[in-house]
Amino acid sequence: MNQTVSLPGLAGKLAVVTGGASGIGLAAVEALRAGGAEVHVLDRAGTQPVDVTDLAQLEAAFAEFPRVDIVVANAGLGREAGLTETTPEHWQRTIDVNLTGVFHTVRLAAGRMKPRRTGSIVITASTNSYDGEARLTAYNASKAGVLGILHTAANELGLHGIRVNAVCPGLIRTPLTQRHFDSPGLLRDYFRHIPLGRGGEAPEVAAAIAFLASDLASYITGAALLVDGGQMAAKFGLWDDKDALFEDGAWKLR
Ligand SMILES: NC(=O)c1ccc[n+]([C@@H]2O[C@H](COP(=O)([O-])OP(=O)(O)OC[C@H]3O[C@@H](n4cnc5c(N)ncnc54)[C@H](O)[C@@H]3O)[C@@H](O)[C@H]2O)c1
Repeated sequence: MNQTVSLPGLAGKLAVVTGGASGIGLAAVEALRAGGAEVHVLDRAGTQPVDVTDLAQLEAAFAEFPRVDIVVANAGLGREAGLTETTPEHWQRTIDVNLTGVFHTVRLAAGRMKPRRTGSIVITASTNSYDGEARLTAYNASKAGVLGILHTAANELGLHGIRVNAVCPGLIRTPLTQRHFDSPGLLRDYFRHIPLGRGGEAPEVAAAIAFLASDLASYITGAALLVDGGQMAAKFGLWDDKDALFEDGAWKLR
């Protein structure tokens, strides 16, 4: 589950990954490189920092690439606060990075791809694009919003030969979520509701990103692919202490 995939349909492509310095983005960089793509990272924490909320910085970065074949709009952040404790500043920063940052990225990507009539864009959305997980009003709103960008961009850009898709990860182990993974009690209850009985690893999301980015997905556009161990398919958890054991961070049948 932790292996980097090497997919066909990526060799020789020039790919750009926002938020590619950590977590899911870093795993996507590795998966795209394993398939033979030349990958550039645009990240606030990168060696040449680029903030996706700064349009001038993003434009300058895109202008340096000779062409753009694949763009992964992945940079994001999430901070918890109850609805009444979510300050206007918290709301604005979350929307700026997770929604406006994706808009800027997709818009610039499409601008570079349109004249060449080819390209593939993948957005990192979330299961939170659909549900109302408590204490995440700003995050949930931003992730619901990116599906609006996904559908509209896929609709408009198909005639230019550009595909636009999204991945919707569930709980994935990354620096953003490590504190959840450090809390076995929490995981035990959380993972009861996940048919596969465990959380995800970044390379498992990266495999889906690389697939959607590659020519293997040549007839797929406008899709939002859940990468969530079945979480969104389940209404009630099936993992039960009677016939299962929670061990090493995962539920297993006895
Ligand atoms: N980890 C999860 O469980 C999970 C689940 C669903 C969706 N996601 C989404 O996956 C994406 C990646 O998250 P992750 O878990 O890998 O987190 P992470 O914190 O490990 O990585 C996020 C990366 O984005 C970069 N970044 C943040 N703000 C930026 C900005 N303004 N400009 C440029 N770069 C910026 C950070 O520097 C970091 O390298 C995010 O969009 C997140 O919302 C994560």
